[in-house]
Amino acid sequence: MHDVRVAILGATGLVGQEFVKILKERNFPMSSLRLLASGASAGKRILVGNDEGEVEETTSESFGGIDLALFSAGAGASRTFAPEAVKAGAVVVDNSSAFRMEEDVPLVVPEINPEDADHHHGIIANPNCSTIQMVVALYPLHRVNLIKRIVVDTYQAVSGSGKEAMEELANQASALMEGKMVTPHVYPHQIAFNVLPQVDVFLDNGYSKEEWKLVQETRKIMHADGLKISATCARVPVHVGHSEAAHVEFTKPMDPGEARGILENSRGIVVFDDLDINLYPLAQSAEGRDEVFVGRIRSDASHPNGLVMWIVSDNLRKGAALNAVQIAEELTKRNLI
Ligand SMILES: NC(=O)c1ccc[n+]([C@@H]2O[C@H](COP(=O)([O-])OP(=O)(O)OC[C@H]3O[C@@H](n4cnc5c(N)ncnc54)[C@H](OP(=O)(O)O)[C@@H]3O)[C@@H](O)[C@H]2O)c1
Repeated sequence: MHDVRVAILGATGLVGQEFVKILKERNFPMSSLRLLASGASAGKRILVGNDEGEVEETTSESFGGIDLALFSAGAGASRTFAPEAVKAGAVVVDNSSAFRMEEDVPLVVPEINPEDADHHHGIIANPNCSTIQMVVALYPLHRVNLIKRIVVDTYQAVSGSGKEAMEELANQASALMEGKMVTPHVYPHQIAFNVLPQVDVFLDNGYSKEEWKLVQETRKIMHADGLKISATCARVPVHVGHSEAAHVEFTKPMDPGEARGILENSRGIVVFDDLDINLYPLAQSAEGRDEVFVGRIRSDASHPNGLVMWIVSDNLRKGAALNAVQIAEELTKRNLI
């Protein structure tokens, strides 16, 4: 395996910054790192481990001599630059929603379907953050006892909407504490001290785009076209860490103890589930961690084959940058870069 020449598109963003950290933390076999963002950031210097790197404006020439391009600059930038990067010979791992549902683009969670990457045509899509943590937690159970239906409600952190949303929450919270009025910019309503039952825009079927991504992406990753899924996604005034309440109907009954045992022995999962000491996953303690945390595992009182659980993960890491770097690691292991 040769060392990889890497570019990050969106290097100044929340996900891009996690890319930089995670590549270093995991000693990704890199021979060079190009930092790309919009023209507004050209010339900025950002920390790369103990060194500094200079940010360049992204153009169609930016990908010459690059083997791996990690994209996190939104769907528009991905549509513009991914074909250019592929043309220049790079493999693109894309964090945006631009290509996820395209038939010839693998949508990969390395704990579940790494072999789907074998058939890539230059672009591999990283799933949506709320989808990744849910499938990591549910797939090990599905392998033992097929899941028929999932009803999931999400409580999503503002970092899922990028750096401007993080600032909006902080600014609104301090203004409101001082008794001042606030005007929302990133979200349609005030996010501080509030809960918004809207993540992304609404579709004709009444679901939000985020909710529909959870439905479609889960089926694609798990290769389960007939799986029934319904989701309600809410934005909550939390900085980092998405939480989810998943109500899962299996083919046969599943004992909570059996589910706990399966999850405790599954890659990338930590079970925090001890009601006697109020132990369950929290967004606050998931921040900065790589794992998906699962707890509150209990029988569903409304269905004999049902389980209910609480699933939490760092949306910027496993929900975005970490999963993408793990995909890149699979690609190097499989000689696909
Ligand atoms: N945040 C999450 O939890 C999460 C999870 C999964 C997927 N994603 C996806 O990852 C992407 C980025 O999210 P984020 O949270 O990192 O957003 P962010 O903090 O707002 O950062 C956006 C980044 O993209 C760059 N950018 C924007 N437009 C560009 C353009 N036309 N050309 C070149 N660079 C451009 C920005 O550069 P400047 O600084 O120069 O403006 C910045 O580096 C989005 O597609 C998002 O849906 C995010």
